Amino acid sequence: MTLPTQLANLRIPVIGSPLFIISNPDLVIAQCKAGIVGAFPALNAREKEGEPILLEAWLKRITEELDRHNQANPDTPAAPFAVNQIVHRSNERLERDLEICAKWKVPIWITSLGARVEVNEAAHSCGGITLHDIINNRFAKKAIEKGADGLIAVAAGAGGHAGAQSPFALVNEIREWFDGPVALSGAIANGKSILAAQAMGADLAYIGSPFIATDEANAQPEYKQMIVESGAEDIVYSNLFTGVHGNYLKPSIARAGMDPDNLEDSDPSKMNFGADREKPKSWKEIWGAGQGIGAVTGITPAAQLVDRLAVEYADARQELCGG
Ligand SMILES: Cc1cc2nc3c(=O)[nH]c(=O)nc-3n(C[C@H](O)[C@H](O)[C@H](O)COP(=O)(O)O)c2cc1C
Repeated sequence: MTLPTQLANLRIPVIGSPLFIISNPDLVIAQCKAGIVGAFPALNAREKEGEPILLEAWLKRITEELDRHNQANPDTPAAPFAVNQIVHRSNERLERDLEICAKWKVPIWITSLGARVEVNEAAHSCGGITLHDIINNRFAKKAIEKGADGLIAVAAGAGGHAGAQSPFALVNEIREWFDGPVALSGAIANGKSILAAQAMGADLAYIGSPFIATDEANAQPEYKQMIVESGAEDIVYSNLFTGVHGNYLKPSIARAGMDPDNLEDSDPSKMNFGADREKPKSWKEIWGAGQGIGAVTGITPAAQLVDRLAVEYADARQELCGG
């Protein structure tokens, strides 16, 4: 199947994935101008009480800056952007955010945690497409039944709420029945891995953690530096911090006074995306990252990271397929 236009004309087949707190308009605009889809979670745009709606301001800025870029650079237009909706009962903003995104004609809608018909309908009402993220084949089927246009297969090793399945198994099971758009998520951090994702049957690579170590990312300098200095062995998979399993940087857990190799278990009833989301104070600086960060060797502008991936991807294609 051919890809929808929103995903078809990228410089390299990559989506810069949405990162809680970290993704902001600066990062999204830089990613899109560099030729990959940039994304942010709608919940990152949080205004204080009485202030104008920040999501609206972010969408206006991103849309206008990318339009201006496209007029000035008709030969190298920006990639489209995506907004991530957390479809969970504790997200009391969901309905409002769907309306705002439809009003601003968001081109790509990424949905996490719940597959709902009305969210897909809202995206389609403004000409957008939805990609739903899943960690197994059963959730993948449910998402497509509810009207998602494509899937994000979140495999083992991904930053944030990661799955536990091998990407080979997950993509293969999905490709047995689904020929629509599939992005693969989990520890993809160089050009060879992007090509490998395509060889496996995915259309696109979904890359998060490497973008934490960029100038534009809204993350503390110590967090960016920890990404640069860490590798796969420094990542621990735990459900303690949010109630669902995710991957975290061990040194940040140790700094908070816990033993990263002996963490307690939690459960999904602890998930909360509401305005009252409060973490214990000592957890504020527990930092998420995927296993691919060994490929990150410095903090750079996002455009430089995309340039590196593009060069590596072209080299990998040349090496493996002769072009
Ligand atoms: C710090 C952090 C925050 C994240 N926040 C979100 C989020 O708010 N919404 C979402 O859909 N995914 C979120 N993710 C998951 C990413 O979108 C993506 O699946 C993951 O980063 C890909 O794996 P990688 O980090 O190994 O590249 C987050 C990941 C990290 C590392």
